This record gives sequence, C-alpha cells and structure tokens, in this order.
Amino acid sequence: MSNDSSARITAGLREWIASAPPGARLPSTRALVARYGASPVTVQKALRALAAQGMVESRPGVGTFVRAVRVARPNDYAWQTAALGSPPHRAPGLSTALRTAPNDVIALHSGYPDRELLPERLVRAAFARAARGGTAVSRPPAAGLPELQAWFAAELGAAAPVGVTPPAPSDTVVLPGSQSGLSTVFRALVGADRPLLMESPTYWGAILAATQAGVRVVPVPSGVHGPDPEELARAFESTGARAFYAQPNFANPTGAQWPPALVDRVLDTVRHHGAFLVEDDWAHDFGITADPHPAAARDDSGHVVYLRSLTKSVSPAVRIAGIVARGPARQRILVDAQAESMYVSGMLQSVALDVVTQPAWRTHLRGLRQQLAARRDLLVDALREHAPTACPEALPRGGLNLWVRLPDATDLSRLVRDCEAAGVVVAPGDEWFPAEPTGAYLRLNYSGPDPGSFPDGARVIGRVLARHQEERPDT
Ligand SMILES: Cc1ncc(COP(=O)(O)O)c(C=O)c1O
Repeated sequence: MSNDSSARITAGLREWIASAPPGARLPSTRALVARYGASPVTVQKALRALAAQGMVESRPGVGTFVRAVRVARPNDYAWQTAALGSPPHRAPGLSTALRTAPNDVIALHSGYPDRELLPERLVRAAFARAARGGTAVSRPPAAGLPELQAWFAAELGAAAPVGVTPPAPSDTVVLPGSQSGLSTVFRALVGADRPLLMESPTYWGAILAATQAGVRVVPVPSGVHGPDPEELARAFESTGARAFYAQPNFANPTGAQWPPALVDRVLDTVRHHGAFLVEDDWAHDFGITADPHPAAARDDSGHVVYLRSLTKSVSPAVRIAGIVARGPARQRILVDAQAESMYVSGMLQSVALDVVTQPAWRTHLRGLRQQLAARRDLLVDALREHAPTACPEALPRGGLNLWVRLPDATDLSRLVRDCEAAGVVVAPGDEWFPAEPTGAYLRLNYSGPDPGSFPDGARVIGRVLARHQEERPDT
C-alpha cells in the first residue's frame, strides 16, 4: 500500500518538476502529506526516489529543490567566428617550452629551471617576511618599489666602464616578468606596422609579443656567434627600423655570448641609425663558464633599453623584471605598463628584493653555476655517446639550453612526436625562428627535472634519429 502511494507521489511530482524551472522549491512535506493523503514516511520515500534519480536535491533545514539538469550537447561557438573576423596576424601556436609534462617523462623542453635549482628556502622566508610587512596591504609606486628600482639600476651600473654614467634608480620600471616587458617595449617604442629587427633564431616569446603588438618582424641572421653585423646594418638601412631586439648574453636558444668587439659594433650601428637596442638579459644569473656583460652597461645615451628578469632565477611564482631605459623612452614604457597592469604587486616586489639582497643569494648563485655546468656537460656527453648526429652547435658558456643541429633531412615534427611517444619531450627548433628555419634544430633544456635521466633521453633521441635515417631511401 505504502509502495503504491509513494510511486503515485513520485509520478505526480515528476510531472510537476517537468514544468518547474531549475531551482524551484517543491511543496513542503506537510503540504504533500495533505495533497496526497499519505503519511510523512511515504512522502519522504518518494522524495528520496526523486533525489536518487537526480531530479531534486534536498537542502537540510531549507527544503527540496528541482535540480538544474545539464543536457549534454555539443558546444557551438561558431557565431564567434563572425564576431571576431579573421585574426589580424597569424600568431605562432602555443609554445612547447611552456607545456607541462607528466612526471613520468624525460622533460627536455621546458624553459624554466627545476625547483631544485631555485633558492627555495630564501623564497619561502621572504614570503613569510613580506606577509608581515606593509607591502602585503598597500599599493606600490607605479614604477616599482624604490629599493627594487635602485637594485636593478645598481646591478647594471656595477658593470659600467669608466667614463659611462651608470643608470639612476629612477631609470627603472618594474614589470611583472620580462615577457610583459617585451610586449610593452614593442608597443611603446616600435608600434603596429613598424619594423622591428630580431635575431633569427630568437626567443619564441619575443616573436609572439611582437606579433601580438602588430609590429613588422624583420629577421637578422644569427647563431652561436651572435648576429651578423653586416646583415644588421643592411637591415637597418633597407627597412628604416628604429629598434633591434637581441640577447647579447647566453641567448635563448643558441647560447651565444657576443664578443666585446661585436657589442661595440652593434652599439655603433644602432647609434648610427638613431635606433634602440632592446637587450633581453634573461639569463643574467645563469653564467656557467663566463659572466654576463650587459651591452647596456656601455651606453649612457639612451640607445639601449635593458630588460633583466628574476622570474627564472628567484622563482617562477615571483614574476618580477626590471626595465632600465633613459629619456622619453622610459616614460613611454611606464605609460604602456600602466595601461596594461597599473603596477606590480608590492608583495612580489618585496619578496624578490628580499631574496636578491640576502648574503645567501650570492652563495646560491655560485652553487647554481656548478649545478648548471654539471647538467650541461652530462647532457652534452650523453648526446655525443648516444645521438652523435644530434650535436650542439657550440658549448654554451651560460644559460639553460643546448641548441642542437640535426641532419638536414630530418622530419622535425615526426622526430618530436616519436620522441614523445617514447617518453622524451623535446622542443622543435622551428618555434625559435621568426622566418623560415635555416635547418632542423632541437632546443634541449638541461635545467629540467631529474638530470640522471639525461642519458636515457639522449638514447631515445639517438634511436629515433637512427630509425628515421634508416627509413629514408636516399640516405
Ligand atoms: C629570452 C627570454 N626573454 C624573456 C623571457 C621571459 O621571462 P619572464 O619569465 O621574466 O617573463 C624568457 C623566458 O623563457 C626568455 O627565454
């Protein structure tokens, strides 16, 4: 009898629910008892049955409600194609260097150093101190915390030769990482549709930032010895460009460090053309067998706009960079940065400043140098032994990457896919070319997790290369 009644109530309520909006409240138990002439136990049983079918949910002490049922159907965002139109420029795809890989693969693709290479204890202590301080609850000045501005300026000024005026703290603008600095500089100092010279190959993120800013990228051939100065001069002349983006120290991806004569020649060229050198000193803290020598330290005439990042050496969670620029260029950079992000979290700025001003920071950097050297050499030796046709173009004296040339006939995307299928993630060199790649390259990062697995990684690369070579009928 009670079974029949509860089925009758369930059927009645199902009909009621069908015409009720999601979230509607069902009549109270008392009202249902009266409506169906049934006991409270029978009504509760009917409600439980409906809840089990996912039609209602009961909120204790509040009531029973019709559940919002999600209908499974395909997404249809086709209207956005019409609303957005075709993209203004063909942006490069998402970068391999930013991919997160599962922890059971050998990851040689990443752009950021593994946690074991970070000053973790210093960072944690700095966060704890910053949480107790004023920057956790206040707005910093738009250009950055004055002490951090002063630190960036002093670091660069320390490398200034006699006779060159070092930068002032007020020449610095603090930004949330140098990626945002690149976008700002390209927008503020170059602008849409205007030419920007860039080394080729160069950092994929600079290519992306330039593309998004709508500037016209003009590649200048470069490599493990730095850019070709004659081609650079020709590119300035033929395009009328007023800016050259480059990495004079431990370039990503080639590892190149410009010899002093090349620095002088490039500085002469940019001065001659009334142009800027946008110097990306991303690897300042990653010297191995050489120290970085910023080109900006040799210029006090405002021709060099200098970016120095701390996100890779302090912590990827502390996205802080400084731009040092003089004259009106600095003002334009600051205005763009304000339009973009107002100011940088004072909390993060004080953490970064705390870390880099601890005596233990210098000790950490010395240890890091040794670790990077050991990792670099381990990967190079492993490639020599297990993948002799994948040879680094040069032994980098700093930075985090090997730039590895592969045999010309290599099908790069197939190689990357096959390595990944065998558990080794590598980054295809094509992503670092703003124009057609001049060869088949891999960028292999030696600062990732588990350096002990480098020989296995090299073995896989060597095996895949050998298999591909065997399959090519003409080789
Ligand atoms: C050459 C170069 N510049 C800039 C960046 C971006 O640095 P940040 O993390 O400070 O935005 C990177 C990161 O990979 C880089 O390799």
